[in-house]
Amino acid sequence: MQTQKHSRHLGKIVDLLQTRIRQWITPLNHVTQCIPNGVNVLELGCGQGILIQKLAGRMQHITGVDYDPRKCQLALELFKDSPNITIIKGDILEYLRNTPTQLYDIIILADTLASITMENQDTILEECSRVIQEKGTLILKIMDVTPRYKYKISLLVASLVYKVLRLSISDGQRFYHRSSTTLATKLQSLGFTTTILPLHQIHYNPLSHTVILGKK
Ligand SMILES: C[S@@+](CC[C@H](N)C(=O)[O-])C[C@H]1O[C@@H](n2cnc3c(N)ncnc32)[C@H](O)[C@@H]1O
Repeated sequence: MQTQKHSRHLGKIVDLLQTRIRQWITPLNHVTQCIPNGVNVLELGCGQGILIQKLAGRMQHITGVDYDPRKCQLALELFKDSPNITIIKGDILEYLRNTPTQLYDIIILADTLASITMENQDTILEECSRVIQEKGTLILKIMDVTPRYKYKISLLVASLVYKVLRLSISDGQRFYHRSSTTLATKLQSLGFTTTILPLHQIHYNPLSHTVILGKK
């Protein structure tokens, strides 16, 4: 009983620590700034809902999808009184394949693509292109592979968070990072007009935070 209580407290501390580290090291405000008010948003790989929390007050509706049961539970608790937010526990690709065409104005993948194999990344982007509205925007927040030294620092920080501090179930998971130009080229082939925003340059950040905006 005592041990159970202990681990529950520890779990909460770990969750809080993970959220704080994510908020501290990632310029998420610059991702949310790209999103106009009153639109219908889909966040794929929403985690515990850090990004959704920043948007909740000014969106028509937000749907978050994540396959991590613990993170989904945290997000469900956080948004239990928010009628304009839906959290779905499930796999991104499976969700997209079962979603009607042109449903969302905005689709966000924030530091999520890299935990998916290259082949599935392409399929997900193709499905996003189908599911997004005619004039919609796809927002990819990634860790770019250049400049090389910033990429290496980003990998070091990820190892510290996942392998040393063991702050996520992503522990032991492989990552598949691609350059912003490769992803932009893929989006262009799907009919998006792209803009690359190197957030790390704007904010002198030592990590290679980058946003790729794809407008239909
Ligand atoms: C680094 S976290 C980012 C969370 C959130 N986007 C944010 O900005 O705070 C990546 C999330 O993607 C989720 N994820 C990765 N692959 C997934 C998949 N195939 N289906 C559903 N969720 C996935 C993980 O569980 C994790 O919560």
